[in-house]
Amino acid sequence: MMQAGVTLDIQPDSQALAVQAADFIAAQVRAKPTLSILVATGNTPMPTYAELGRRAARGDIDFSRVTAVQLDEYLGLSDHDPRSLWGWMERSFVTPLGIRQSIRLADPAAFEADIAALGGIDLAILGLGPNGHLGFNEPPSPPTAPTRVLALTPASLESNRAYWGELSVPTHAITAGMNVILSARAVLLLVNGAHKRDILRRTLEGPETPDVPSSLLRRVPLTVIADEAAWT
Ligand code: PGA
Repeated sequence: MMQAGVTLDIQPDSQALAVQAADFIAAQVRAKPTLSILVATGNTPMPTYAELGRRAARGDIDFSRVTAVQLDEYLGLSDHDPRSLWGWMERSFVTPLGIRQSIRLADPAAFEADIAALGGIDLAILGLGPNGHLGFNEPPSPPTAPTRVLALTPASLESNRAYWGELSVPTHAITAGMNVILSARAVLLLVNGAHKRDILRRTLEGPETPDVPSSLLRRVPLTVIADEAAWT
C-alpha cells in the first residue's frame, strides 16, 4: 500500500515505461504550456526524451514555451567537454523538443534566484541513483540541503563511469539542492532495471531518511514509473 500522494506505475519494460512517462509529461505541458521542468540526464530518461522528441517532431506537442532547468553538473569541465551534463541535456532534451529557454546550473545562489524568478519548478524529472542520490544530492542529504558544490561518493563515481567510456568521472559536482527538488509541484521518478530494485524498495518502503535522499520524495506529489525488473 503506497503512501498518500505517491503513485507507483509498473510497466512491462523500458520502452513501455518511456511511452507512459512521455504521456505523463505531455499531459503536464498541455495543461500548462509554460511548464518549468527540472531535467535529469543519466541513462534512464533517455528513451522517454526520445519519445517526446518524436512527438514534438510530428507536431503532437509544443514545448516552445517550456523552460528546462539543469539538475546537476560536474565541476571543472570546459563547455565543449563531452562529459558536460549541460551538453547532454541540450542534445537529449532541449534541442529535440524545441525548447527555447533553459536555466544553467553554474552558481548556486544565482541558480536558486533564477528558479524563484521563474515561479518555482512545476515538474522534476528524476532518475534514481543506486545509492538513493537525486541529482548529486549524495547520502546523507537532509531535506534542507541547498544547491551546492560537493564531492561525489565512491558509489556515484562508479555508477557514472558507465556514461563516459575511457574518460574519467570528475570528482566534484554541483547539484540542485534537496530544497529545490522537494519544492517542485510534482516529481516524476523513472526507474529501470533489476539493479535498481533494492534502492527502489528503500525509496518507497524504507524509513524516510537523509541517508536515502530519494526516500524524502514521499513528502511531495510523487509519481514513480518503473519497469517490472525494478519492482517485482
Ligand atoms: P541512471 O542514473 O539513470 O543512468 O541509472 C541515475 C542516477 O545515478 O541518478
